Amino acid sequence: MRTQVAIVGAGPAGMLLSQLLHLQGIDSVVLERRSREYVQQRVRAGVLEQGTVDVLREADVADRLEKQGHPHHGVNVQFDGDRLRIPLSELTGGRSITVYGQQEVVKDLAERRERDGGRVYYEVPDVTVEGVETEKPVVRFTSEGRVRELHCDYVAGCDGFHGVSRTTIPEKERTTYERVYPFGWLGILAEVEPSSEELIYSNHPNGFALHSLRSSTLSRLYLQCDPGESIEQWPDELIWEELQTRLGTSDWKLREGPIIDKNITALRSFVSEPMRYGRLFLAGDSAHIVPPTGAKGLNLAVADVDRLARSLTDYYHHGSTTGLETYSEECLRRVWRVQHFSWWMTSLTHRFDGPDAAYDRRLQRSQFDYLRSSTAAATTLAENYVGLAAV
Ligand code: FAD
Ligand code: DHB
Repeated sequence: MRTQVAIVGAGPAGMLLSQLLHLQGIDSVVLERRSREYVQQRVRAGVLEQGTVDVLREADVADRLEKQGHPHHGVNVQFDGDRLRIPLSELTGGRSITVYGQQEVVKDLAERRERDGGRVYYEVPDVTVEGVETEKPVVRFTSEGRVRELHCDYVAGCDGFHGVSRTTIPEKERTTYERVYPFGWLGILAEVEPSSEELIYSNHPNGFALHSLRSSTLSRLYLQCDPGESIEQWPDELIWEELQTRLGTSDWKLREGPIIDKNITALRSFVSEPMRYGRLFLAGDSAHIVPPTGAKGLNLAVADVDRLARSLTDYYHHGSTTGLETYSEECLRRVWRVQHFSWWMTSLTHRFDGPDAAYDRRLQRSQFDYLRSSTAAATTLAENYVGLAAV
């Protein structure tokens, strides 16, 4: 089998790349370890930057997003029950974010690729990537009991943090930077009307909590927890009690309803450099992870893919390799800006234990007061949150 670009992973990065290339007449094959149902049911991100919405529009997969996505012009940050609204659009020349579930983005992309006859192989557990330092890379895998060889010009590693692509790069050729946080997030999806029209990031002495939403009947909520805890340690009543405590104010209460999904994720910051090795290009979580506090992981994946699609288009249409050669360096500039913002939002809003805990909390209070009193400080948060156009 032959294609121009072999794509490993059918998450948002892989599927979007396939679609953008298709629109430019460039052929690709996508290989995914899990089933289509599994990939589309995984509840993850929900906040799309304006730049991400623009790319999805350009990819011609934004019809449902435009009808069902919720534009947001502000976001709330809360400290010890004091709530501060950051007017995102007012501070950023009219930019905004859109709330629309990641799994809906992936569904829209998969349906579109299927309609256009795109080749996507699901339930392919044993992908290996070979020869990326030569002119003729080969990707091997088994599908429906048959061993297959996919010959290609380029390989896009869009297979997330636990994928195979990154580890194809010899260890001596890559540098990793990492920070593991001493906490995780417990996330729930609940069948209840959202209690606030806008998101609320709250720092309470018990720990962080976040109020978000998916629709007029679905709330999405998160709690800081221990990373090693199992979900069985969190019965529904305890989750609601803790959410009420951490998000409530003297005149605001959370609406409760049936929980239909819950899981725990560990938080980490991670970057692997460079993002290119020979004819292999990493995009999205395969190259970098951010803690979810800044709502950036998905947006960063889309920014990588947008750049990669443009670089491949330049190569196939004009024979130019400049974009491919500068891909890693250009992506990493945005990656590190977002690494900083995500770390900063995490540091501001979470409970840190240990010998410096009391000192850390006073610093957080000071930073919160600064956000409240300084337009410059609030603008820094706002412009990073809605996404910087150029980095
Ligand atoms: P993924 O979505 O991880 O997709 C990679 C795909 O590759 C997967 O389908 C995987 O099954 C497949 N794969 C893996 N290994 C192989 C292999 N060997 N062969 C073939 N296929 C393989 N980001 C935000 O912006 N906001 C959020 O609120 C947010 N919440 C999150 C909550 C959770 C629980 C998690 C885990 C992540 C969250 N993120 C959030 C991060 C965001 O979801 C990711 O940044 C985003 O999914 C990255 O997309 P991706 O396509 O690069 O990787
Ligand atoms: C959501 C997730 C985030 O990580 C975040 O920072 C904001 C919103 C969400 O799932 O809605």
